[in-house]
Amino acid sequence: MPFWFIPAITQSMAWSLQAPFLASCPSENPVVDWQIFPQLNATTIINSNGSTPEPAISTIGPSLSQPGQSLNLTWDNSGLSAGPNSTYNASSMAGEPKFAAWISQLNVTYTPLTNFSGNSALTIQPSGNVFQDILGNDTTPLINGTIFLLLTDDKPYVTPYNLSQLESHIVAGPVLYTVG
Ligand SMILES: *[C@@H]1O[C@H](CO)[C@@H](O)[C@H](O)[C@H]1NC(C)=O
Ligand SMILES: *[C@@H]1O[C@H](CO)[C@@H](O)[C@H](O)[C@H]1NC(C)=O
Ligand SMILES: *[C@@H]1O[C@H](CO)[C@@H](O)[C@H](O)[C@H]1NC(C)=O
Ligand SMILES: *[C@@H]1O[C@H](CO)[C@@H](O)[C@H](O)[C@H]1NC(C)=O
Ligand SMILES: *[C@@H]1O[C@H](CO)[C@@H](O)[C@H](O)[C@H]1NC(C)=O
Ligand SMILES: *[C@@H]1O[C@H](CO)[C@@H](O)[C@H](O)[C@H]1NC(C)=O
Ligand SMILES: *[C@@H]1O[C@H](CO)[C@@H](O)[C@H](O)[C@H]1NC(C)=O
Ligand SMILES: *[C@@H]1O[C@H](CO)[C@@H](O)[C@H](O)[C@H]1NC(C)=O
Ligand SMILES: *[C@@H]1O[C@H](CO)[C@@H](O)[C@H](O)[C@H]1NC(C)=O
Ligand SMILES: *[C@@H]1O[C@H](CO)[C@@H](O)[C@H](O)[C@H]1NC(C)=O
Repeated sequence: MPFWFIPAITQSMAWSLQAPFLASCPSENPVVDWQIFPQLNATTIINSNGSTPEPAISTIGPSLSQPGQSLNLTWDNSGLSAGPNSTYNASSMAGEPKFAAWISQLNVTYTPLTNFSGNSALTIQPSGNVFQDILGNDTTPLINGTIFLLLTDDKPYVTPYNLSQLESHIVAGPVLYTVG
């Protein structure tokens, strides 16, 4: 386990991850109306020094995406139909996308978006550690294993106690992203 802390995500974030895989629901199911955020995709791109990126998702092998890796993020507009029976609309109340939000371990780390082109932009995978120990040595990486990546219009300080405060800032996502 590369994690010391497992982040919880909100019900609307979880529902947004599931929605593309649900074709229909029986009509007698009660409707619990969580928000579905627009879809986000993340693709590793070749680094500026020409090194070939590893695949973002893999089940074996030691080397996945590392800090400094450039990602190309692509996202849907708000308002597209989504979810079972396509009876919901993906929605976002946020403004223009400005940051990638990396939900992992105990907090949310933001990285700026650059190189905008239509509904795509680049960002760079951050580094960092959860704590420094009493001797100042770094502990387990902040971002390792499978994490949640979102697109936001701001970078509010949120903790595991008030992660839902991020929701009004979500432009798209989450998408699962594997690091390590
Ligand atoms: C990241 O997690 C993997 C296991 O998924 C582990 O083998 C690796 O050592 C971790 N990286 C660091 C820098 O601790
Ligand atoms: C969703 O579609 C299925 C299959 O067409 C149908 O049986 C079901 O009643 C629909 N559910 C709702 C909530 O409309
Ligand atoms: C190329 O850049 C990546 C990401 O910044 C880095 O991990 C890698 O070590 C670099 N490779 C070389 C040969 O400099
Ligand atoms: C990111 O991906 C989109 C969609 O494939 C593409 O149009 C855009 O040029 C890419 N951006 C960069 C900087 O590679
Ligand atoms: C995300 O990727 C999936 C699978 O390749 C594709 O069907 C979908 O259109 C993509 N969406 C965006 C917003 O890039
Ligand atoms: C989804 O958007 C369409 C077109 O704007 C609208 O007609 C429909 O009422 C919306 N559906 C929901 C569930 O909000
Ligand atoms: C998250 O925690 C890491 C390690 O303590 C820290 O470097 C980073 O600034 C924190 N991010 C935020 C948004 O508080
Ligand atoms: C992103 O933009 C910077 C600054 O304009 C440019 O130097 C760089 O080549 C661009 N990267 C890609 C992958 O297009
Ligand atoms: C801290 O790092 C130093 C230098 O690598 C090492 O000698 C020491 O054992 C580390 N201390 C702990 C508590 O890991
Ligand atoms: C979330 O909680 C932290 C800790 O109490 C607080 O500092 C922060 O302002 C809160 N964030 C928002 C957006 O309310």
